Amino acid sequence: MIVCATDSVDGTRALAAAVAELVVEGDLIVLVGDLGAGKTAFTQGFARALGVDEPVTSPTFTLANRYRGSMTVNHLDAYRVEALGEAEDLAIPELLEDGVTLVEWGDNILPALPAGHLEVRITLGDGDDDRILELTPAGPVWQARSRSLTETLDAWVAR
Ligand SMILES: Nc1ncnc2c1ncn2[C@@H]1O[C@H](COP(=O)(O)OP(=O)(O)OP(=O)(O)O)[C@@H](O)[C@H]1O
Ligand SMILES: [Mg+2]
Repeated sequence: MIVCATDSVDGTRALAAAVAELVVEGDLIVLVGDLGAGKTAFTQGFARALGVDEPVTSPTFTLANRYRGSMTVNHLDAYRVEALGEAEDLAIPELLEDGVTLVEWGDNILPALPAGHLEVRITLGDGDDDRILELTPAGPVWQARSRSLTETLDAWVAR
């Protein structure tokens, strides 16, 4: 696990942009954290870094948004997904084939998600704008990127 800290929403967006440099088609990012933690902020910085110009908003009511950048960015919100049957309705394996996918509240539907992913767990820090981001590579593909991830995130690593 890589533990990082940011002290502004732009800091979280910048960290996410750094993570975006490492992804390839088919990758999955699982975003975990309470309401207002910064999961959408992370997705905004990430999508912008991949050339998405349109505003990225929470897909709470649509369940999934798809943005076109240098790579397709799929943005899901599993907050309201209660049954795994519903998760299957999201057709995640099909989504993952095209571009990179970020799932807010991904821990709600973890059994429906591929085992290989990057988990980003966001919690509140001491100050109003402080956030702790714990990044955990799951599965061989992300584990193989652990070192590059640590290097890329050097500016934010909590010491
Ligand atoms: N360091 C920070 N990182 C991210 N967001 C921050 C930070 N400091 C303050 N904020 C604020 O916290 C809020 C994060 O909101 P955001 O919509 O990204 O949360 P979320 O985790 O997606 O919540 P939800 O579960 O409701 O979708 C924003 O209002 C943002 O401006
Ligand atoms: Mg959100």
